[in-house]
Amino acid sequence: MSPLNLEDFERLMRRKLDPVTCDYYLGGAADEITLRDNAAAWQRLRLLPRALRDVGTRYLRALLQGQPIDLPVIVGPTAFQALAHPEGELATARAAEAAGTVMVLSTLANHSMAQVRRAAPGLRLWFQLYVYRDREVTRALIDQARDAGVEALVLTVDNQIVGLRERDRRNGFRLPAGLAVKNLVPEDAEPPSGESGLAHYVAQLFDPSLSWKDLEWLVGIAGVPVWVKGILRSDDAGRALDCGAAGVFVSNHGARQLDTVAPTAEALPAIAQALAGRGGLLVDGGIRRGTDVVKALALGAQAVGLGRPVLAGLAVNGAAGVTDVLAHLGQELDIAMGLCGCGSLADIDAGLLCATRPRTGLSA
Ligand code: FNR
Repeated sequence: MSPLNLEDFERLMRRKLDPVTCDYYLGGAADEITLRDNAAAWQRLRLLPRALRDVGTRYLRALLQGQPIDLPVIVGPTAFQALAHPEGELATARAAEAAGTVMVLSTLANHSMAQVRRAAPGLRLWFQLYVYRDREVTRALIDQARDAGVEALVLTVDNQIVGLRERDRRNGFRLPAGLAVKNLVPEDAEPPSGESGLAHYVAQLFDPSLSWKDLEWLVGIAGVPVWVKGILRSDDAGRALDCGAAGVFVSNHGARQLDTVAPTAEALPAIAQALAGRGGLLVDGGIRRGTDVVKALALGAQAVGLGRPVLAGLAVNGAAGVTDVLAHLGQELDIAMGLCGCGSLADIDAGLLCATRPRTGLSA
């Protein structure tokens, strides 16, 4: 099967990887209600294209932190990419570099920031940070980020306690021997058997007392812009910027943390309205089609993040697979923009969206 869309990549991944790894990558929290909702909420939005707009040339280039990216799609942080392909994050980095976009490397990567930098010297590399109980560990990560020429830190604030990932619990998911968290390898992080290894690692090492003052602390020592990932409320978004953050990621961690939280497509509009252009604004969760990207931008995001589709591309064909995933989404976006009457991203605005939702069932 030659993949025609991002769902096809996911189907191919299921054929390639063992079911336990697929469950870890593709699963969500608890009943997976938000997991289904994330994609469905983009799908529910309806477009109102503009006619006769001369879309002979279309520009997909966006600005992120004042620098161009070739398409408004970035590679979001996902842990343990070597489970998908032996080259893991190195392959993803090469693909992101070739696509001219940003890659956010996870704290829980199987390759270090220095390795990633060597693999993709021209990559716009950002680093996603978890705050460890031991702040010196966090400082060490920030030093490594500086040495690797990382452009921004992304503080993830929705994973200090791991959600109820029942697939992983059932499977006793843990990293296979030989795969390590390469940016730091805590000596006492070996999980006991019978429990989700990740849940154990996080409970041992991540600091659940993380608060706004830690964000201020981080902004003070980072030396690069700090983004906050995992924001679903407009008051939190404003507070993040008040604490000095450069921008926020509207995200529910790909529905892997608290089930039944709002899908990001529904959380984004109020946040965009509250920020009114103050600070950067990114969104992720369930973006699978070019039309989803148009909708996210119409609702006020500067660009979108991709999680699982990148892992699927990686599993299917390493760096070339990730390149294909980004190219597929870029082509879909190009078509969607053209058909919406948009020659550039600046033409995408809220007027492209129907104000009312389609009726999905019987009305009362
Ligand atoms: C993630 N995500 C994530 N986020 C983060 O800040 N640090 C991390 O280490 C990880 N790890 C991770 C692993 C896996 C397997 C997945 C699927 C996701 C969340 C990720 O950055 C992003 O928010 C979501 O994946 C976006 O949703 P989609 O595109 O996967 O639907």
